[in-house]
Amino acid sequence: MAEESQVNQMESLNIGETSGNPEAVEDVVDPWNVQTSSATGIDYAKLIVRFGSTAIDETLVQRIEQVTGKPAHPFLKRGIFFSHREMNKILNLYEQKKPFYLYTGRGPSSGAMHVGHLVPFMFTKWLQDTFDVPLVIQLTDDEKYLWKDLKVEEVLKLAVENVKDIIALGFDVEKTFIFCDFDFIGQCPEFYRTMVKIQKHVTFNQVKGIFGFDESSSIGKIAFPAVQATPSFSGAFPFIFNGKKNIQCLIPCAIDQDPYFRMTRDVAPRLNMVKPALLHSVFFPALQGATSKMSASDPNSSIFLTDTPNQIKNKINKYAFSGGQATVEEHKEKGGNCDVDVSFQYLRFFLDDDERLEQIRKDYTSGELLTGFLKKELIGVLQKLIGEIQERRKTVTDEVAREFMRPRKLKFDY
Ligand code: TRP
Repeated sequence: MAEESQVNQMESLNIGETSGNPEAVEDVVDPWNVQTSSATGIDYAKLIVRFGSTAIDETLVQRIEQVTGKPAHPFLKRGIFFSHREMNKILNLYEQKKPFYLYTGRGPSSGAMHVGHLVPFMFTKWLQDTFDVPLVIQLTDDEKYLWKDLKVEEVLKLAVENVKDIIALGFDVEKTFIFCDFDFIGQCPEFYRTMVKIQKHVTFNQVKGIFGFDESSSIGKIAFPAVQATPSFSGAFPFIFNGKKNIQCLIPCAIDQDPYFRMTRDVAPRLNMVKPALLHSVFFPALQGATSKMSASDPNSSIFLTDTPNQIKNKINKYAFSGGQATVEEHKEKGGNCDVDVSFQYLRFFLDDDERLEQIRKDYTSGELLTGFLKKELIGVLQKLIGEIQERRKTVTDEVAREFMRPRKLKFDY
């Protein structure tokens, strides 16, 4: 029964820009549910059709390299960021030396962030470094208060912890504004005005269609999509953009957030505002495999930023789902399956060296390498990555966090 209602919810995503394919009812993807029965994960090609976005193909990746004069991020070359809306418009602006800015966010539902949460932020950092543009990061503590069984005081605390983790990824304080909704929105009349303008121009019927709300949804939930839409418009941040309302926005996010931004893009022309462009990522698998749900409340479902080197090693050895065969003999004969092997999948996200990754793929597929080798490689990669973040996290004091969250002019003039 639960499945039935999720399917209905999913089909009802078909409004506005969404070109519907009512047959594709297998995977569930919306801001609150991501579910598939396939061991290889969500069918992303189908999702592109259903959501009406565009695939990131070789031509686009090459254009990004050509326009920036830098090698594309591994996430682009490996299909981890796989879908977009109007990325070519962003590249045109960049070529013409016209401004744009980045917007991304996080819902602080737990204090501990796992490696999957790093994906959009690592990519956003690369975009910021590569294009040298301002970045705004929204922490939707209000969203988590509305949806989860948490008190306001609790989500406020989680948000600040998450802000420190995000800063520890290495964002540049001169180019980055981070805000928590509960704290910031009341301080910024222009943000609130933009939000209410959006609310005036989106009906209950529209959000019902996009998000599956019904008559028993709280009015807080029904109004929330406008809160997440607002940072897509530069007018909401007058201290950064000097009151300019039409600066183009680019949003890197996981594809489950797309419903919010379909709504945003639908409403933008009605407000005479610029539609945000988007870059969408795939989901990050749980240690137990793509069919199982990664949950911040289950410490064994992923690797967390707070894990020690030993915890990283033990969890991977114990829980990382193997795409190998039952016995060594069988494995040597038939080879391993990279598409379901979680260690390989994690290496695809976090092993930077393209050649090494390709060699591992070949040798695992042929049966020459065993899962144990992949696990060992992954343990090393994650111990290093997390160790570096933990080192930087120590330098992120309350004072540093406060500076990132202070509404202020960034290093860009408008
Ligand atoms: N709703 C997102 C979450 O639950 C948080 C978020 C807010 C976000 N604004 C965003 C994510 C913009 C990506 C881009 O995690």
